[in-house]
Amino acid sequence: MRVLVSGGAGYVGSHVLLDLIAAGYDPIVVDDLSKGHAAAVPQGVPLAQVSLADAAALDRVFAQYKPQAVLHFAGFTEVGESVKFPDRFFRNNISNGMTLLDAMVAHEVKMLVFSSTAAVYGEPQTVPIPEDHPKSPTNPYGESKLFFEKILARYDAAYGLRSISLRYFNAAGAHPSGTIGEDHNPETHLIPIILQVALGMREQLAIFGTDYPTMDGTCVRDYVHVCDLAAAHILALRALEKGAPTDAFNLGNGQGFSVKEVLAAAEKVVGKSIPAQTAPRRAGDPAVLVAGSTRARELLGWQPRYADLHTIVETAWRWLQTHPAGYGEE
Ligand code: UD1
Repeated sequence: MRVLVSGGAGYVGSHVLLDLIAAGYDPIVVDDLSKGHAAAVPQGVPLAQVSLADAAALDRVFAQYKPQAVLHFAGFTEVGESVKFPDRFFRNNISNGMTLLDAMVAHEVKMLVFSSTAAVYGEPQTVPIPEDHPKSPTNPYGESKLFFEKILARYDAAYGLRSISLRYFNAAGAHPSGTIGEDHNPETHLIPIILQVALGMREQLAIFGTDYPTMDGTCVRDYVHVCDLAAAHILALRALEKGAPTDAFNLGNGQGFSVKEVLAAAEKVVGKSIPAQTAPRRAGDPAVLVAGSTRARELLGWQPRYADLHTIVETAWRWLQTHPAGYGEE
């Protein structure tokens, strides 16, 4: 089955491509390469360098490749940037996303898996967070994803376009082969930053806040391996093929680790101490974000294979050691 993958040259999208191929799907990537990397797309997978803002070009891709389903990863993800430039986030994540949906409607493509986020919840009232927890995003990034989920529900009611939104908690790690991994510019995520310090690419880690109401005062997150996220997309696609209704699922391991615990795990993986200093809180960071993901396990049959923090960090380390400049070095 032909599957169009928007943002397939990005971090999560590129890992999903490998699983799609292994599962016998025939992916085609649409990516404007503004954030993604052509080198992250496996050999033999067509890559259309097209922006989702370009309705005419998108129409040509749909006409040429005739996909039967879409996996939608293209979008901006950096929370701090979303606060500075909400216009860019709403335009790219909502307006351009709708251009993709309209192409789907025009070409009668009825199944979509959408890359959503834990940021739709905002500051949690209960932990672990269930899917029906109130949604009150604290930044434009989370708002853009939440609003797109609402749009998806309306497109189902009006046009019969069924979708599954997957709300990732903290995506981390890299493919165990060491061939693809995380390459953001600028990098803002905790694990790659810690490992860049270990590699001497940065002087030290700044720990954003040590006065949170957590066991050691630092923020707690639910780190989930990118290959486990990838596997969930294949399961979601299969569920849609079997007629599953529009739905949304959390993807996390249900276990939280503090910034200091992640640092300690990284020190074990790299075998040396990693310099860190305390810094002020980063605006908009909730103290604790941990997923309740029993629904994904029960309804999609999702079973994370790399739930262990050590493994998550180890795979990220393998990638960074062999690709210190990301894809730029190849
Ligand atoms: C955020 C979003 C998430 C989004 C992800 C992708 C929220 C609540 N979460 O995750 O939805 O998918 O970005 O961009 O909006 N930290 C440090 N020092 C650093 C970097 C990070 O102490 O140099 C801390 C942060 O304060 C945080 C934790 O490490 O507590 C993880 O941070 P990060 O990797 O940036 O992810 P989130 O902000 O949790």
